[in-house]
Amino acid sequence: MTAEDDMALATRLAQEAGDILLGYWSAREALTIATKRAGDFVSEADRSAEQHLRDGFASARPGDGWLGEETGAAPGSGRRWIVDPLDGTTNFLRGIGHWAVSVALEVDGDLVLGVVHDPVKGETFAASKGTGTKLNGQPVVVAQTADLSAALFGTGIPFGTMAYIGDHAGDISRLMPKCAGVRRMGAAALDLAYVASGRLDGFWERRLQLWDIAAGLVLLREAGAVVEGWDAEERPEDTGTVVTATRALFPQFASTLRG
Ligand code: IPD
Ligand code: CA
Ligand code: CA
Repeated sequence: MTAEDDMALATRLAQEAGDILLGYWSAREALTIATKRAGDFVSEADRSAEQHLRDGFASARPGDGWLGEETGAAPGSGRRWIVDPLDGTTNFLRGIGHWAVSVALEVDGDLVLGVVHDPVKGETFAASKGTGTKLNGQPVVVAQTADLSAALFGTGIPFGTMAYIGDHAGDISRLMPKCAGVRRMGAAALDLAYVASGRLDGFWERRLQLWDIAAGLVLLREAGAVVEGWDAEERPEDTGTVVTATRALFPQFASTLRG
């Protein structure tokens, strides 16, 4: 079993899960929606896509471990698949065509493969450690933007009962006067893929879950982005907080955010 075999498997299963989601997407009025907590929804679309991925990996890689948003964790060898079957559920349920399937592979604690598949736009972002990031098979890298004043960033705004709402407001007030704009698009896995492919110059969000970011972190690192937590010493894998940008912009971006 090679890294190429793992990538072929992850890509196929992510795209199949995407097809399952597209089926629900076209009849989303019929979905029964449950609220996990304020602003955090789930439906049979999320659950069916995750079950397909879980069954697919269990059958093709029986010894591997698992972490999925909807079905939880299962122990395995030193390898673990980390999956968000539908990142951007609120967008999905509202008919906003910006959501994705996110699949990562961790080996001995190290993220080595990431696939983020956007079924509506027909875009599959993929990276394996050491081989670069691709979009639909073509190599991509981070943007070339030279000045913070021309840079476009993404973020995730805390909602509901989440802490950090005030902190995020402070981030915005420090950053907005210095940059060209900030987007809140509602799917963290795609935000990270967009930085990796040069559509955004950087991104930040506090306290995401590992399944939101695991695949995107591989895409970012392989595309040449700087990736840190809130502090330089912090790993997003450990805390869920991501601060990322191109090498040229990161120092100014991070020092502006960190205040
Ligand atoms: C959410 C999205 C969103 C982020 C939230 C996540 P979900 O994931 O990635 O952009 O701001 O924190 O929970 O619930 O749609 O899988
Ligand atoms: Ca998510
Ligand atoms: Ca999700």
